[in-house]
Amino acid sequence: MKIQNVGVVGCGLMGHGIVQVAAQGGCNVVALETQQEALDKGIARVEKSLAKLASKNVEKGKMTADQAAAWQTEVRGRITPSLDKGDLANCDLVVEAIVENLDVKKSLFSELGGICKPETIFASNTSSFPVGEMADASGRKDRFIGLHFFNPVQLMRLVEVVRTDDTNEDVFAAARAFGEACGKTPVSCKDTPGFVVNRLLVPYMVQAIQMLDRDDASKEDIDAAMQLGCGHPMGPLTLTDYVGLDTTLSILEGWVERYPNEPAFSIPASLVSKVKEGKLGRKTGEGYYKWEGDKKS
Ligand code: 3HC
Repeated sequence: MKIQNVGVVGCGLMGHGIVQVAAQGGCNVVALETQQEALDKGIARVEKSLAKLASKNVEKGKMTADQAAAWQTEVRGRITPSLDKGDLANCDLVVEAIVENLDVKKSLFSELGGICKPETIFASNTSSFPVGEMADASGRKDRFIGLHFFNPVQLMRLVEVVRTDDTNEDVFAAARAFGEACGKTPVSCKDTPGFVVNRLLVPYMVQAIQMLDRDDASKEDIDAAMQLGCGHPMGPLTLTDYVGLDTTLSILEGWVERYPNEPAFSIPASLVSKVKEGKLGRKTGEGYYKWEGDKKS
C-alpha cells in the first residue's frame, strides 16, 4: 500500500507544514481550507518556507541556484489548493490538522467517511485527543491512525504514529512509510493521552509556568536554566509562547476533564488569565514574552 495522493485538511500552523513536507516527499497534495483567505495565507507560508530552504541549500553548496529554483517549482507544483472536500475523494491518505476541538474533528471524519473512497486512510494530527474516538466517528476504524507532527513541521524531525487496537497492520506500515517519505523519523505509540512527546512536554511546561507564578525565578532565568543546563534549544516559557497558550490550555483542559486524578495534569492560573486577555504567545505578539514577528522583543 503506497501513499501517493494526500489530502491535508486545514492549512494553518501545522497543516501548511504537513502539506509542504508531503509535497517535498514526492506526494501530490490537496491542501484544503474552508475560507479562501486562510488557504491563501497557508500557501504563502509554504512558498516562503520553500524559498528559505532553497536558499539555504544554495548557501551550503547542496544545490546550484538553478536547481534550487527548479526544486521549488516542482514541490509547489505538487500542491493543489482547494476549498472543496470533494477533491479528497480519491486520496490514499487524508490528514486532518484543523482546530483542536474533538466534536469538530469527529464531525469532519464522519463527513469524510461518506466522501472518500473506501481504501482512503484517515489520520489526525491531534496533540492530545483519543484517536479511537475519531476512528469510531469515521466509520472506518481499521483505516485510521494518529500522525502527530511537531512545530515547525518543516524542521522538526519526528512524527508520532499512533495506532489503536483496531488499526490494520498494513495501514500502520503505510503511515510509517509516509512519515519517512516526509523526511521524518517515525516513533510508534499507543492511543494514550499526549502520546510520547506531549505527555512529557506539557507537564514540564506547566511546572515552569507554576514556578514563574510562584515567583521562584524569572522567566528569563527559567528558560536560560533549561537551555544551558539541559541543552534544550528553547526554554519552556519561550516554547509555550511558540506552541501557543491557547493550544497548551486546550490540551490541559481536555486532560483535566478526562483524567481528574492524574496529578501531572493541572492548569496554571496565569495560563488561564493570559488566554482570556488574548495573549496567546508568538502569534498574537505577546504571551509570557513580547514578540515582534518571529523574534522576542
Ligand atoms: N521553514 C524553513 N525554514 C525555517 C522555518 C520554516 N518553517 N522556521 C525556521 N526556519 C529557519 C529560520 O529562518 C532560520 O534560518 P537562518 O539560520 O537562515 O536565519 C533557521 O531555520 C533556524 O531558526 P532560528 O534562527 O529561528 O533559530 P533556532 O536555531 O533556534 O531554530 C527551532 C529554531 C528549530 C524552532 C529551534 O529553536 C527548536 O528546535 N525549538 C524547539 C521547538 C520544539 O520543541 N517544537 C515542538 C513543540 S511541541 C509540538 O509541536 C507538539 C504540539 O502538539 C503542541
